[in-house]
Amino acid sequence: MDDPHYRPWGKPRYWIAGLFAGVFGFVLIFGYLCMICCRSFRKTCARTLPTMDIENGDHERRNETSNVPATESISVDELSFSAINQISRFTYEEVRTATGNFTCLIGKGAFGPVYRATLPENRAIAVKVLAENSNQGEKEFLNEVLLLGRLHHKNLTNLVGFCSDSGHRILVFDFMRNGSLAARLHEHTYEPLTWTQRISIAQDIARGIEYLHDGAVPPVIHRDIKASNILLDSFMVARIADFGLSKESDSGRPASGVRGTYGYVDPEYFYSNNLTPKSDVYSFGIVLFELIAGRSPSEGLMEYVEVVLSMNGGRDVWLQLLDPRLHGNCDLKELNHIALIASRCAEAEVQKRPRISEVVQALARFRRTGGSKLDSLNLSSFNRFERKQRAERDMMQESSSMEDARG
Ligand SMILES: Nc1ncnc2c1ncn2[C@@H]1O[C@H](COP(=O)(O)OP(=O)(O)O)[C@@H](O)[C@H]1O
Ligand SMILES: [Mg+2]
Repeated sequence: MDDPHYRPWGKPRYWIAGLFAGVFGFVLIFGYLCMICCRSFRKTCARTLPTMDIENGDHERRNETSNVPATESISVDELSFSAINQISRFTYEEVRTATGNFTCLIGKGAFGPVYRATLPENRAIAVKVLAENSNQGEKEFLNEVLLLGRLHHKNLTNLVGFCSDSGHRILVFDFMRNGSLAARLHEHTYEPLTWTQRISIAQDIARGIEYLHDGAVPPVIHRDIKASNILLDSFMVARIADFGLSKESDSGRPASGVRGTYGYVDPEYFYSNNLTPKSDVYSFGIVLFELIAGRSPSEGLMEYVEVVLSMNGGRDVWLQLLDPRLHGNCDLKELNHIALIASRCAEAEVQKRPRISEVVQALARFRRTGGSKLDSLNLSSFNRFERKQRAERDMMQESSSMEDARG
């Protein structure tokens, strides 16, 4: 016992090596067990959570008004279990029968063909069928069902139901007897819209956007306001359609990429990818000019506006812009006011544009009194930004990232 070399645990280096080997073995076995647990947990999640997201792989946040779980995305198969299950769900066979085997084509956009149909109770409907080659189709389908399932206003199209049956994706709307505003303005088979009808349509569109921005909870930015997405019902009431690209504005995430239609897209959104409700205001300004001039952006509407402005025609400058099909039949004072409102909405700088609620008030007020708060605007405020707008449009034309052929 008194031996100074006596060690009850053997030589120290064997003892340390044994300890290391033990710890290493334990870590190895523990890590392996953890990996197995994680894998089986992920498999369980994949079975219970839907995998399809609404926008670009991000999780869309929805509040209790839509009753869609806040942190989860939703798949087509789950639609019937979500809050929108008060909307009818049709089988493919029911849609096929209602459309008479898809015979009466009434429209076509990027989503796919639209057919006229009749439900058994004699209700006229429009059936929008997702085309097989539609890139964004599945997301747009979900977006439209989820948003229109909770948005209800007299100036929005009414979603009657949907069909998600053996790979078919179909949206069913109330039929709008007077077609799209684009067709009414640009197809010469129709009688030209009167000046009064144009003003009333402008007011309807503005009220529809106001509901989206200020009435809906959470607010919605339409992102694709244009004449072909404005439909006219049997009373010539305008309703905003096509919510495939729309976005809840308080989702707290940056916009996922510039979407919209060439000629109607807010230049500031185009360059900064910063989507705000004022982007809809810009597009609305373009539609107002289109209503005045009967000319579409693809026919050089805004270039025409600039030419007219440069003519320095004094008080009657906007008369030069008027749709020739109206043969001068309009109230000159109203024309000037509408054109000024359009100019303000289509300002290149976001801060210069009014809120849509101001536009609604301005449009309503001048119909009653022949004047509006926006009277105080002078043309020079528009001219100042004219050059900048032109440069921006030129650049937009060059950009290939723009989706310019949407329907
Ligand atoms: N409810 C409807 N009633 C009448 N026509 C419609 C209706 N919905 C769509 N259309 C027609 O189909 C066209 C394309 O519809 P839209 O909803 O804009 O589809 P997309 O997403 O493909 O652009 C419209 O411009 C219009 O002419
Ligand atoms: Mg469309």
